[in-house]
Amino acid sequence: MAETHQKVVLVGDGAVGSSYAFAMTQQGIGEEFVIIDINKERTEGDALDLEDATPYTFPKNIYAGDYPDCKDADLVVITAGTPQKPGETRLDLVNRNLKILASIVKPVVASGFNGIFLVAANPVDILTYATQKLSGFPKEKVIGSGTSLDTGRFRVGVAKKLGLNPASVDAYILGEHGDSEFANIDEATVGNVPLVDFAAKRGLTKEDLLQIEDETRNKAYQIINMKGATFYGVGTSLMRISRAILRDENTVLPVGAPLTGQYGLNDIYIGTPAVINASGIADVLEIPLSAEEQAKMDASAKTLLATAHKGME
Ligand code: LAC
Repeated sequence: MAETHQKVVLVGDGAVGSSYAFAMTQQGIGEEFVIIDINKERTEGDALDLEDATPYTFPKNIYAGDYPDCKDADLVVITAGTPQKPGETRLDLVNRNLKILASIVKPVVASGFNGIFLVAANPVDILTYATQKLSGFPKEKVIGSGTSLDTGRFRVGVAKKLGLNPASVDAYILGEHGDSEFANIDEATVGNVPLVDFAAKRGLTKEDLLQIEDETRNKAYQIINMKGATFYGVGTSLMRISRAILRDENTVLPVGAPLTGQYGLNDIYIGTPAVINASGIADVLEIPLSAEEQAKMDASAKTLLATAHKGME
């Protein structure tokens, strides 16, 4: 059987980027892994350090490279950008990180790259939208990490309260990857049993579930205040999306996806489940939201659009 040889380029070798790179060394995907960063010496050191993991996981050619290496890449993952500092929201980063993003997307496209973009730099919904505009790539080939991390956080929070494996909590965080995100509590299920009913039988009220939603929304601030940054959760979320692309899985994952009428919204990237495969976003799902949660989606989109217009003036 022909050996698959897939190439991934990571742009940004900070805490998030190197965590993603480490997560990828634990996976038998992306046999060629290139890291691009302005700090060349650190990036070369990281590549040498990461390759020392591969004898005990999977063969992988990991090296520090530059934009021409994107030409034949299957996937370019952009994590480069300034991270939140204590007290900063993700939206506060928009002007600084849009400038950094433009300096990345242009040379990637100029290399002749024709693969999939996966964007994680914050504010990720706006930067994913900007990547699609700057690159001119079809929308389905530009994916944001969106609410993938947040959905994992909510599932962990509910699972801990209900004594479940987080993978058994079929719930999503939707909307902005940020302060206006919300959980689809009214539609969520556990084994096809409405989450609200399953939880009630175990003494957890809807207010308790909304408390977990709030804790999810604020978890990044909590972690940043305690350890200065977040990186393992988001690095692993990026690995999971990468695996669905590189293995052509057709898996439904929460991502930052382009809306074309879903939830009554257009011309925006926002967190919602989507079918992910080698072509990128094969289908964007619209969860039939309760009136209460549709209003939350509307408010989240409004927040993003207001910031995007300000950031791109
Ligand atoms: C977080 C960063 C990745 O939510 O935005 O941890």
